[in-house]
Amino acid sequence: MDNETLTITDNRTQQTYTIPISRGTIRAMDLRKIKTGPEDFGLMTYDPAFMNTASCQSAVTFLDGEKGILRYRGYPIEQLAEHCTFLEVAYLLLQGELPTSDELANWNCEIGHHMMIHENIKKFMDGFNHDAHPMSILMSTVAALSTFYPEARTVSDAKVRRKQVIRLIAKMPTLAAYAYRHRLGLPYIYPDPELTYAQNYMNMLWRRTEPKYVANPVLARALEVLFILHADHEQNCSTNTMRAVGSSTADPYSTAAAAIAALSGPLHGGANEEVLRMLAEIGTKANIAGFIAQVKDGKRKLMGFGHRVYKNYDPRARIIKQVASEVFEVTGRNPKIDIAMELEKIALSDEYFIKRKLYPNVDFYSGIIYEAMGFKPEQFTVLFGIPRTAGWLAQWQELLQDPEQKIARPRQVYIGEERRDFIPIEERALAAAAIA
Ligand code: SDX
Repeated sequence: MDNETLTITDNRTQQTYTIPISRGTIRAMDLRKIKTGPEDFGLMTYDPAFMNTASCQSAVTFLDGEKGILRYRGYPIEQLAEHCTFLEVAYLLLQGELPTSDELANWNCEIGHHMMIHENIKKFMDGFNHDAHPMSILMSTVAALSTFYPEARTVSDAKVRRKQVIRLIAKMPTLAAYAYRHRLGLPYIYPDPELTYAQNYMNMLWRRTEPKYVANPVLARALEVLFILHADHEQNCSTNTMRAVGSSTADPYSTAAAAIAALSGPLHGGANEEVLRMLAEIGTKANIAGFIAQVKDGKRKLMGFGHRVYKNYDPRARIIKQVASEVFEVTGRNPKIDIAMELEKIALSDEYFIKRKLYPNVDFYSGIIYEAMGFKPEQFTVLFGIPRTAGWLAQWQELLQDPEQKIARPRQVYIGEERRDFIPIEERALAAAAIA
């Protein structure tokens, strides 16, 4: 399109400014020249929660919220979920291309080789109460990994970065499984390099006294697909956190721990656990109408519904529903899915949800599958964090290699007190009474 510019007239000064438009955006810094005089700082944008602000240029993931499109490095999520393993997708996110068979074999071997964790981590893990939330254990132990690999602080070195990327992707399932075993008072199970990524996670979670863990192939494949669906999602809250902390050039373990903290929030990755609690509370289809009424009165949120970007059906939720039927063939049907589907049916025909373009998101059905597979609700967000580590690291690498990026430091609009003088403590009660 010609003339990719914006002409702005400042009605305070009658000055006009021509600002270039690039990829559907204007640079906020171009607004700084709009001033009322030489003393004026210039205009900023004010955008709480970044509703309309691009913080970076990224080639990792593409979303189209209106059309419900999700692509990793240009490949539609539906095709990746059907044809790939999770580690193949992790390689794609990090390297930008799908691996050849040799590249994938080497990558699988490297990850498998690094799934073990330092024995001291077990002592660290044993210090937690038996009922410590697995996400709290995960964020603490990931942060603790930074003490075992001090060289990781040299984030400017590509070789150092790659080694930590491999370690983090490899060790997340191990840490997550150990957190679960600690909760149950069970001995820790070492990873088995002969198993796939998902099979190994199941092995370290559920192996008892059998000499070799054999995962149910349908459940292992379902877990791989769920890992693929959760691997990345452009600039979501936890990825934004990864980029913000990473921009200070902190080591990747501390940075990933911050991202895990963000993911644990009920409005973000913690929603899958909240959905199960919500469905359990609703209990039967007869209670759905009453619950929906509470949501429409603003008293409750319909957890697992709504999305900042998707104003259409989350493509991941659609795939997860398909995976559910395959899992239920093995585990038996989880009755909660009937309540969830009835809830979806009613919500999608109700003006409150239609008007606000609220559709099921990735968290609405995932927990129902996890529960049927034998996971406890407190593990659900851990199941989100394991695969998302690949996306966080792909975005972290992109940030560090982007010449435009520097330490993240937003500005603010100050709305506090003007300058005022100190009040000695003996005069404060009197001063407060005078104001009251
Ligand atoms: C994830 O960003 C990502 O990509 C995240 C994620 C990823 O892969 O990383 O996709 C993963 O976090 C999915 C979202 C999981 N969270 C939930 O399911 C929690 C429930 N959902 C909501 O809290 C909410 O929809 C958010 C947080 C997901 C999005 O919030 P927004 O974009 O800030 O929207 P909003 O809160 O401003 O809502 C707009 C309107 C409001 O109504 P009004 O004030 O206009 O009357 O929609 C309403 C909200 O009250 N609304 C809901 C609702 N979500 C939004 N009403 C009831 N139930 C909901 N779930």
